[in-house]
Amino acid sequence: MVRHPLADDVRIPDDPTGSSSGSDRDVALLKEMAAQMLGERDHMLGFPLNLDFDYRPLADFLQVHGNNVGGPPTSSEYQLHSKVFERAVVSFFARLAGHEEAFGYVTTGGTEGNLYGCYVGRERFPEAVMYASQATHYSLPKIARLLRMDYVAVEVGHDRAMDLAALRRHHTARKGGPAVVVTTIGTTTGGSEDDLAGVREALADAGTDQVHIHSDAAFGGLIAALAPEPRPWAFESGADSIALSGHKMLGAPFPCGIVLTRPEHVEAIRRPGIAVGSDDDTITGSRDAFTPLLLWYELRRLGRTGLQRRVAHCLATAEYAEQRLREEGHHPERAPGSNTVLFDKPTAALCRRWNLLSVGDRAHLIAMPHVTGEHIDRLCADLRQ
Ligand SMILES: Cc1ncc(COP(=O)(O)O)c(C=O)c1O
Repeated sequence: MVRHPLADDVRIPDDPTGSSSGSDRDVALLKEMAAQMLGERDHMLGFPLNLDFDYRPLADFLQVHGNNVGGPPTSSEYQLHSKVFERAVVSFFARLAGHEEAFGYVTTGGTEGNLYGCYVGRERFPEAVMYASQATHYSLPKIARLLRMDYVAVEVGHDRAMDLAALRRHHTARKGGPAVVVTTIGTTTGGSEDDLAGVREALADAGTDQVHIHSDAAFGGLIAALAPEPRPWAFESGADSIALSGHKMLGAPFPCGIVLTRPEHVEAIRRPGIAVGSDDDTITGSRDAFTPLLLWYELRRLGRTGLQRRVAHCLATAEYAEQRLREEGHHPERAPGSNTVLFDKPTAALCRRWNLLSVGDRAHLIAMPHVTGEHIDRLCADLRQ
């Protein structure tokens, strides 16, 4: 492990009195760290997260312990919670996903949403095998291990989406039976989208209608929903549960997300009244009451139309990046309607400077809300040198 330059400064003494630490110096250290992190906004092109937000008006909540223990629909004996705000956030996403009555809650991120969706699917169909494409997020094979489910990584086609003929072949070879299928809407490695309706058809052809489809829309859900030409991603297209991210298109100072599921499916896991008086129908017991307030604040500020403008900005920036990188000879490619642009991997120093993730000899540029044409021009100038 490389030694961090602040490692000595941040060491926590056993007895703070009489040491070189003290609140003024500590606050200065924290400010230094924050300034460094804020400065990175100028060069953050490779990660699917938004750095364009300001939640400082919510600072009062940093002085009190809020706890949304149990699911959002039921109140709890711990009175300091923000469930009324959480229900408003869930309701916004449920409407967007095409099922106003959907059950949902605010999660710690995409991984918890995926775990929840697969858990509900496994409890509905205890013998189910789990399928996801080879391009799925790395959380899915881990979740299969946690839930002790048989896991099959289904091949992808030229478009990097799940190959439905391969899915049919795999399930036929297993002689049918129940299945939990994870479709990805916006893969982390290129933005491709699986075909939810096609998955159900392929499994019906292979002899099963006992299927739970979990849509991992952590990265691309809001883009598919709010693009000028919306694409299938949610309940209307056959999803049983959906994971969305809060820190990607929306933006938050820490990872968070939203999970949704058809209300009747939650019965498979719900234990009424046992979570401090609330129903136990989430993964964790105690849950953070602060994140729902952040998400509510940002959603009230932006609304659906503001988010639509945001998605349009990301897609326009991705298109501009694709055009500029082509002009400069870096062989860009972009999945239809995606904000991810793959291009020839530059030097390691440039990947570090621009926070670019790479797979093999290709690098990812992801046009998130804080990324502008000016960032692209500066990247191209650097690439030219
Ligand atoms: C498609 C997809 N699913 C799941 C996740 C996991 O989300 P988190 O890192 O919030 O757990 C990510 C994160 O990048 C993702 O892109």
